[in-house]
Amino acid sequence: MSHKVTLIPGDGIGPEVTNAVVRILEATGIRFEWETFSVGAEAFEKYGEYIPKDLIASLERTRVGLKGPVTTPVGGGFPSINVALRKKFELYANFRPIRNLPHIPTRYPDVDLIIVRENTEGLYSGLEHEVVPGVVESLKVITEKASTRIAKFAFEYARKNQRKKIHAIHKANIMKLSDGLFLRCSRAVAKDYPEITYAEHIVDNTCMQLVMNPYQYDMLVMENLYGDILSDLCAAFVGGLGFVPSANLGDECAVFEAVHGSAPDIAGKNLANPTALLRSALLMVRHLGEYEASTQIRNALERVYRHREKLTRDIGGQAGTSEFADAVIAEMQSPS
Ligand code: NAI
Repeated sequence: MSHKVTLIPGDGIGPEVTNAVVRILEATGIRFEWETFSVGAEAFEKYGEYIPKDLIASLERTRVGLKGPVTTPVGGGFPSINVALRKKFELYANFRPIRNLPHIPTRYPDVDLIIVRENTEGLYSGLEHEVVPGVVESLKVITEKASTRIAKFAFEYARKNQRKKIHAIHKANIMKLSDGLFLRCSRAVAKDYPEITYAEHIVDNTCMQLVMNPYQYDMLVMENLYGDILSDLCAAFVGGLGFVPSANLGDECAVFEAVHGSAPDIAGKNLANPTALLRSALLMVRHLGEYEASTQIRNALERVYRHREKLTRDIGGQAGTSEFADAVIAEMQSPS
């Protein structure tokens, strides 16, 4: 049996890390049929569309995507491709596990927390306009439907995976209506899960609390922007952005991608760490039911970090993206 997967290499470091991860996935012996598409500026040049129609049709068919990062122009230009895809396919839950890999020296050992980010609304609704010259409004949209849905996702995950505690992160002291609604929905859902401790923290305090003591948290659920910012903060606990995976999950479709962006500062130099995308691919492989392959890759990855001979530069090594992938593949093929 083979798995059809829509592959979006993206731009910047995207093609480099995607290529590394595809090679590792194929070394498991699982058969993948990749349907590969460019998006963003590159797709516009080729097809006159930022998100090609064929890509949409492919994801509608395969319902599973593996995606590299895509550059979004700052302060103008086309809207975010990432946000557009998440909305189009109702990928409402952005699941971001923050876990140390063994053998990597980090600021905090044994971190194990999960960020659940609402992925379809908040300040990412893209509703901005100039009221009069010099005055701009950016609308934050919070709905009962999306807030309840994301809270249910978090509590269901907690129940199924024996997680103990969920914090809803908010700024309802200032955004009384929008974040207030988010909290009301979270509280209502929490009542159905009495075995899971529910608490609320204000987002700015959460940043400080996380840096002081990340172990006080288990799962955090929050709206879009807070989730975006806090997941980069939490990446620093486990070695940086080269390590944190994510899954964009909806009821009909799932797209797996790293938390990091296109890293223009190191793009095209074979320097990027593909671990974050590889860990995202592991989430995908499990989503596809290929548990053995997931264990095989994870064990090989851990051995590469234990041997410390082929590490990328972000973690103090000298190896390039492709050599790192070669090392993981060699470990997968070695008997130990
Ligand atoms: P970034 O995540 O691309 O880079 C931040 C820092 O982390 C840089 O110093 C970079 O070199 C480093 N870094 C990131 N990934 C790495 C990896 N795999 N290995 C080693 N070092 C790594 O964030 P930045 O610079 O804010 O964003 C660049 C572009 O990416 C922007 O256009 C942004 O909109 C886009 N972006 C796209 C995302 C996506 O497609 N899901 C997510 C985040 C940003």
